[in-house]
Amino acid sequence: MTDDDIYTDSIHAGQQPDPATGSRAPPIYQTTSFVFDDDEHAAELFALEAEPMTYAAAYTGKNIYSRIMNPTTMMLENRLATLEGGIGCMTTASGMASLDLATFLLAENGDNIVTASALYGGTYTYFTHTASRRGIEARFVDTLDYEAYEEAIDEDTAYVHVETIGNPALVTPDFERLADIAHDHDVPLFVDNTFATPALCNPFEHGADLIWHSTTKWIHGSGSTIGGALIDSGQFDWAAGDYPEITEDNPAYHGINFHENFGEAAFTFAARARGLRDLGNQQSPFDGWVTMQKLETLPLRMARHSENAMAVAEYLDDHPEVSWVNYPGLESHETHDNASEYLDGGYGGMITFGLEEGYDAGRQMCREAELASLLANVGDAKTLIIHPASTTHQQLTDEEKQASGVTDDLVRLSVGLEGTQDIIDDLDQAIDAST
Ligand SMILES: Cc1ncc(COP(=O)(O)O)c(C=O)c1O
Repeated sequence: MTDDDIYTDSIHAGQQPDPATGSRAPPIYQTTSFVFDDDEHAAELFALEAEPMTYAAAYTGKNIYSRIMNPTTMMLENRLATLEGGIGCMTTASGMASLDLATFLLAENGDNIVTASALYGGTYTYFTHTASRRGIEARFVDTLDYEAYEEAIDEDTAYVHVETIGNPALVTPDFERLADIAHDHDVPLFVDNTFATPALCNPFEHGADLIWHSTTKWIHGSGSTIGGALIDSGQFDWAAGDYPEITEDNPAYHGINFHENFGEAAFTFAARARGLRDLGNQQSPFDGWVTMQKLETLPLRMARHSENAMAVAEYLDDHPEVSWVNYPGLESHETHDNASEYLDGGYGGMITFGLEEGYDAGRQMCREAELASLLANVGDAKTLIIHPASTTHQQLTDEEKQASGVTDDLVRLSVGLEGTQDIIDDLDQAIDAST
């Protein structure tokens, strides 16, 4: 996507003046249900014969029930699909709900998921404690060990999963290499693009097949609304692999075969008609509307987050009390080259670092910060700080902490949009006061 496209599409894609009222801003269609023209129209919609569940259809009176589709959330869905270069999108009540929606469709008892180990902690727990209860095994591999992916994948692998900028080392894998490995085994590559957003990276351009987002983070960007999105590239050949929900006659939807009926949109239709319908994890029209307002400025904000984070990383890198800094924009970063290849227009807003004096100093620094808020979120306009070993990761064993890369000294910073020097001054006084 070019710079011009991302700026224009963030504002216009997926929405037009409301045909009923002329409203330029998107209306909030706060309704559970939609009146059918007549019984025949109703029957056609339920049979998926009247092209329901696409954005254009939503505008032209082809809606059924807001658990499955709603014109307001569909505007956001169409915009996100456009920004990522996909063909379909489902917005969900949270990021985790998008991960679950995809897993529900693609994996069943006896299957496995091969995932990079540099992951958001909630995703790690979902794989180890939630997916596992459905008989799905998670196989964790070193994010940058491509042979390990190769070895872990077998005929029961449902998908390969990776984050664009993986926690907490903020590593970016070689997507194209990973996509080749997954595709050689007829398995899709599923990417959590939360930390990059479509303003910095379009994983579909590099071989990914499905993308999920926590829109709670930078896509919304003000820390007021939990949400998620699952986006389909339309490129994966589901029939080549083992995906009965998509490619076989589906008894849960009066025997429909999504692959035969909807071709490249099979996953999108299955995710909506089977997934959202039965899991009930859809996004509310109000939350979708709020997120759409914020999405208009995403490229502007991501450029500013990235500029501020680069300045802060350079400041920390030069500080005598700071022992190490992870920021993909620094040449010293382990995957700076991959980040430079796959990220366009900046390296994002996340930094992790350690203080020379370790655990206690890291913990105290978070207490001393005044402009930066001590809380467990990322991707806000406000700068956020946390010491994971004493908070988000305190219940993990030492081995688990080591496996997830959370060292005792690690401080995590989500750099906001404030004045650059104000952020640096706050960190400076907080480091001084704690070392
Ligand atoms: C990278 C990443 N992915 C997914 C999630 C989960 O998103 P949500 O909190 O919207 O469910 C988070 C939340 O922190 C995250 O940081």
